[in-house]
Order: sequence, then structure tokens, then C-alpha cells
Amino acid sequence: MKKAGVLLDKGAVISKVDERVYGSFIEHMGRAVYGGIFEPGHPEADEQGFRKDVLSLINQLQVPIIRYPGGNMVSAYNWEDGTGPKEDRPRKLDLAWQVVETNQFGTNEFADFAKKAGSEVMMAVNLGTRGIDAARNLVEYCNHTGGSYWSDLRQAHGYPDPHQIKTWCLGNEMDGPWQIGQKTAEEYGRLAAETGKAMKQVDPSIELVTCGSSGAGMPTFPEWEAVTMEHTYEIADYVSLHQYFGNPDNDSQNYLASTMELERFIQTVTSVCDYLKAKKRSKKTMMLSFDEWNVWYHSSEQDKKLERWQTAPPQLEDRYNMEDALLVGGILITFLKHADRIKMACMAQLVNVIAPIVTENGGGSWKQTIYYPYMHASVFGRGVSLQAIVSSPAFDTKEFTDVPYVDTAVVWNEEKEELAVFLLNRHLEEDVLVRYSLKDFTGYQVTEHLVLEHDNLKMENTIGEQNVKPHRNGQSEWDGTELEVKANKASWNVVRLKLNS
Ligand code: AHR
Repeated sequence: MKKAGVLLDKGAVISKVDERVYGSFIEHMGRAVYGGIFEPGHPEADEQGFRKDVLSLINQLQVPIIRYPGGNMVSAYNWEDGTGPKEDRPRKLDLAWQVVETNQFGTNEFADFAKKAGSEVMMAVNLGTRGIDAARNLVEYCNHTGGSYWSDLRQAHGYPDPHQIKTWCLGNEMDGPWQIGQKTAEEYGRLAAETGKAMKQVDPSIELVTCGSSGAGMPTFPEWEAVTMEHTYEIADYVSLHQYFGNPDNDSQNYLASTMELERFIQTVTSVCDYLKAKKRSKKTMMLSFDEWNVWYHSSEQDKKLERWQTAPPQLEDRYNMEDALLVGGILITFLKHADRIKMACMAQLVNVIAPIVTENGGGSWKQTIYYPYMHASVFGRGVSLQAIVSSPAFDTKEFTDVPYVDTAVVWNEEKEELAVFLLNRHLEEDVLVRYSLKDFTGYQVTEHLVLEHDNLKMENTIGEQNVKPHRNGQSEWDGTELEVKANKASWNVVRLKLNS
């Protein structure tokens, strides 16, 4: 059996984990809203039309923040269309996704929904077809107490108290040619800075996310970050990163190594931020908001066949398998390793659209394979992220070299006296024995070892069958200072320890 070692010291802290790193995303597209979180008339719908079965699955994930309403959709969205009496709301063409938007769900409904989900809202403003005026009005509508046109309108719409939305995205993927109102870096930087300035004049307590590149593969990356942040560095608090993964060539070993690319992306964006900090002699450190990430490729072909101008068609409905769950685990580990800079991240998306939760219109709801590593990290990964010195055998793939078979992150919750060890074995044929040196944690005991694994890497879950789900029969031994974990081939592991009191 292969062997690996991990050295930890409780004084070697990367950073406190910002719980918002376990955020998610609901866009007005496909069946994310209509038929996903909102389905009036469904047997499980509450008085507002929110599906209680879906809320219960979201609650189990403990999602601290949800981005809304887009995504690409926001770049031609008039937020006013989704407010006020429902019978007066216009049906509009959503150009981004080539569908008809009924606007029966909008800002106030989402604020209510987020409250029921136990989440904060991350609101995106339209910097494609609109700009400063619509954005500052939306902040006034959502956050101003009353006594002004837009805040009084909110009250007239049945919301006497402000929604107090703290986090705002200055547009979405404005570098992308697919974006309505795509901008050059110079155009976007100026517009975002001036929009952000006005938004903060309405409510100085808000935080802003400036748009980074749509992905590391964009031809303008990382020049886009350098040019846009010349303008937005002082007004924004975070820069966004987006990245989607896939295994279209069916090379599982290469696919599972793709967190190496993620690692490079994070390091590059961090470097650009720090270059600007130095150049501007700024005291501020720009933090990262990885506000779109996931696996997205399974549905690409079927989406090409969809007819245009439907309402809530099944778009981007990827069905995830075992290997996707492993990659998601690896992504979450990578975020924890960068807890000092990544303060927010959103799994894109939450329901039906490239999502961990799937619903049937009028029917049930269920968990995809990727639900589990996401839930484990969110529920158990709260505390401080510890620096893990890992020595692991490594492999090469067609795209990556020196990829460690073992990837790990460890989170210590001092208050609860709990330790969570997240461990991925990306070896497809062999188990690996991983020895953690945990000399600072004498008195702790292993409380459970959760494992997600399946012999068939392509195995998926369905509405009736949870073929891929965690079990508690992981093998780990603890001698008081060292933890020996048997990481089965191609498995995601969570070993939890607690101080024996
Ligand atoms: O999440 C799906 C889409 O991916 C989003 O609308 C867009 O921002 C990204 O390209």
C-alpha cells in the first residue's frame, strides 16, 4: 500500500475559515427558481410558494450566503420588473438564456427565501445594459430604512424593514463575449468604480465584489484583473473568480488532477491583487470571492436541443457521478488551503442548474453525489484552517505533473474542541495509508470517519436511489498523537476528532 505523511501544528494557522466560502448561487435560469426553490401549488410549497422539501435539503447544507439573480441573466435584467403586485409584472425575454422570464419571483421573494434558508444574500447588479442609476436605486430599495422614493416603494410592496443586504457584485463576467453589454477592461473598471462609489454613498456598510475574469482560460486573463482593479482596487473589497471543470475526454486521472489548475488560478489572481496593492501603496489587501465554481459539462449537448423562449426549461441539468464528487472535494480542500485570501465562494448553482439538489416539477427532490462533500465541508469545516505539510507519492497526467495522490485540509474548531480532517485519495487503483502527526491534539478522540466511495466512478444518484452516499466504516487509528487513516482508492474521507472531556 502507498504511504503519505502529514505534519500539523496548531500554531500554524493559515486563517480562520470565513464560513461564506460554503456559499452557493441561484440564478434566474432553467429550473433553479421556477420548479426549483419556488413552485406554488406543489404539495410541499409553503404559503409563499417555496418548496419546503428543497429548503430542508438546503438547510442540511448550512449555506451561509447565496448569490442572486445572476449570472449572465443579470446583465440585461431590470430589477424593478420583479417587484410589486405580481399581476402587474412583465413577461420579458431573457436574452442570456433565450427564455421567457415571468418575473413572478424577484428581489423581495428572494430575500424571504434566503431568510428561510438561513442564508445571507449576495446581490449582483446589472452592469451590462444598465449602470450607476439602477444599481444605486436597488441599494436604496433594499437597504434604506424609509423616507425616500425607493425605500418607500419597498414598504408599499409589503416590506417595512430593509433587507440589509451586505454583499454586492458589480456585474457578472463582464469580460465574456457572451455577456450582454460586454466591456473592455478599461470600460468596465471605470463603470464599476463609479457604480460602487454611488452604491457605497447610499449605504457605506456594504461590501463590493469587482468582476475578475470569467475563467483562467480567457485570453485577457490576467490583464483584465490588472486593468480593472487599477480603477476598482480602493472601492471594492473582493475580486471574483469563476471556474468550471469537466471530464469530456474521459480521462479520470487527469480530471482529478485539475485542482492543480485551480491552484495556479488562485495564485495568479492573488499576485495581481498584491501587485496593485504595492503599486498603489495601499494598506488594503484585496480578498477573493470565488463566486462561481463547479463541474459543468454533462448537460452541454442536451442543452443545444432546447427550444427557445420557453419558461423554466431544464437547462444545465448535469447529472453528477462519483468522480465529480471527488473533484468537488478537491476543490473545497483547495479553498481551505487558501483560507487567508478566499473569503467567499459559491458552488454554482444550488438547485437543478448544475446543482447538488435536483427536483421534479410537482414531484420529489434528491441529493446528487456532489451534495455530500459540499455538506461535509460546510458543516464540519468551520474554525481555523491549519497549514498541512504533506509528503505524498505523486503522478503525472497529460496536463499536470507531480500531482500528489493525497490532498488534505484540516480545520480546527477551538471553541467546540473539534478537528475535521478532509482527505482525498485520487489514486484510482490503490489505497493510501496517510499518517497525520497531531502532537498538539492529545486528549482528542476519533468520533467518526466518513467515506464517500464507489467502485464505479461513473455511478450517479437518481430520484429513487442514493447509489453514492457516505458511510461511516472508514478505517482510522489514533494513538493519541498520530492518526493513521486508510484512504481507500478514489475516495473522499472526513475524519472527525473531539477532545475527550
Ligand atoms: O452558472 C452558469 C453561468 O456560468 C452563469 O450565468 C455565468 O456567470 C457563467 O458563465
